[in-house]
Amino acid sequence: MAADHDTQRPASMSQSEYDKYTKIGDFDFPYCDEVSKYERLTKIGQGTFGEVFKARHRKTRLLVALKKVLMENEKEGFPITALREIRILQLLNHENVVKLIEICRTKASTHNKFKSTFFLVFEFCEHDLAGLLSNANVKFSLGEIKKVLQQLINGLYFIHTNKILHRDMKAANILITKAGQLKLADFGLARAISQKNSQPNRYTNRVVTLWYRPPELLLGERNYGPPVDMWGAGCIMAEMWTRSPIMQGSADQHQLTLISQLCGSITPDVWPDVEKLELYNKLELTKGQKRKVKDRLKAYVKDPYALDLLDKLLTLDPSKRANADDALNHDFFWMDPMPADLGKMLSMHTQSMFEYLTPPRRRVAQVPHPSHLQHRPQPMATQEAQFHDRVF
Ligand SMILES: Nc1ncnc2c1ncn2[C@@H]1O[C@H](COP(=O)(O)OP(=O)(O)OP(=O)(O)O)[C@@H](O)[C@H]1O
Ligand SMILES: [Mg+2]
Repeated sequence: MAADHDTQRPASMSQSEYDKYTKIGDFDFPYCDEVSKYERLTKIGQGTFGEVFKARHRKTRLLVALKKVLMENEKEGFPITALREIRILQLLNHENVVKLIEICRTKASTHNKFKSTFFLVFEFCEHDLAGLLSNANVKFSLGEIKKVLQQLINGLYFIHTNKILHRDMKAANILITKAGQLKLADFGLARAISQKNSQPNRYTNRVVTLWYRPPELLLGERNYGPPVDMWGAGCIMAEMWTRSPIMQGSADQHQLTLISQLCGSITPDVWPDVEKLELYNKLELTKGQKRKVKDRLKAYVKDPYALDLLDKLLTLDPSKRANADDALNHDFFWMDPMPADLGKMLSMHTQSMFEYLTPPRRRVAQVPHPSHLQHRPQPMATQEAQFHDRVF
């Protein structure tokens, strides 16, 4: 293939420097289109691993989300974390999992020192759940809440059946289209569940955003599984009513304290074998706390079936926690009002809602006082009043 003048070694560059830069850039990537076929519209996300843009295919007008692959600290070429995310997304094809359309790249040229930037191209979803919950004008009926949670757990059922752990459940990673279709997104921390049974797994436990991190991870468990995502689903379920994360710890120790204040003390009585976890004796565990999940959440959640499912998801012992199948079969989803389509309610909102686009001070994590559980945030007099505080 003849190289055009843009990919030839500039006179100012030595051959060895040129060879170094062209490690990735020297390919023509015939099966990886140039990202310029999409017109960038707005920035919609800034994650730990890169920026996300709304964009439109110049010819077909199809809307997409472009997630930039961060290459800055990479010495070994294409980042392994992005490769993992791509492999997992390619495996998962389901209506409740975000669809990866393709990978695109910028053209290697002298301008970018022959280093292409890569983008994951996703189908575009109009909202994320954190954005929707932050906006007080978005009001979900009980049937609509059921629809959100049923789709969320249906997505988890699918990925868990396919032996994938998400490991980063949180409202900002749940996308919802304007038609009301929910999609699990952000598989940046996901991994395949190891199949070998002879030895316990030794996965890293530095996963899951702190506020959604289950007690087994906080106590150092490395042989964990799908229940880690179910805990996150329980936190998100409660958030559908409280409108902000229910346990906003400032550090691992504080997170465990908040968990004990809500779910009761962590003891071998309620969780046999918990003593075997590495950090059980190293961290300070609050003693004498009664379990108050239903009691404290009933101020927000009036439906008794919802409270019961919450109680089963926010179970301390992961082996007793409801799995996705248990949750889908729970009466909550099968009693009136039945899960109801979200399309009509969402059609009243013409603006996209993303966590990134909510007013900055609403995005700042604050340390909550347990007494906040009893009180709704005070209404604000300012024009921002339509935004819920993301503090519970
Ligand atoms: N397909 C999509 N459609 C619409 N918005 C999207 C899409 N994918 C991602 N976003 C938005 O971009 C944000 C960041 O994307 P994502 O969570 O995949 O990236 P990340 O860098 O891993 O984020 P973080 O590290 O903060 O979890 C999401 O919270 C969501 O608001
Ligand atoms: Mg994310």
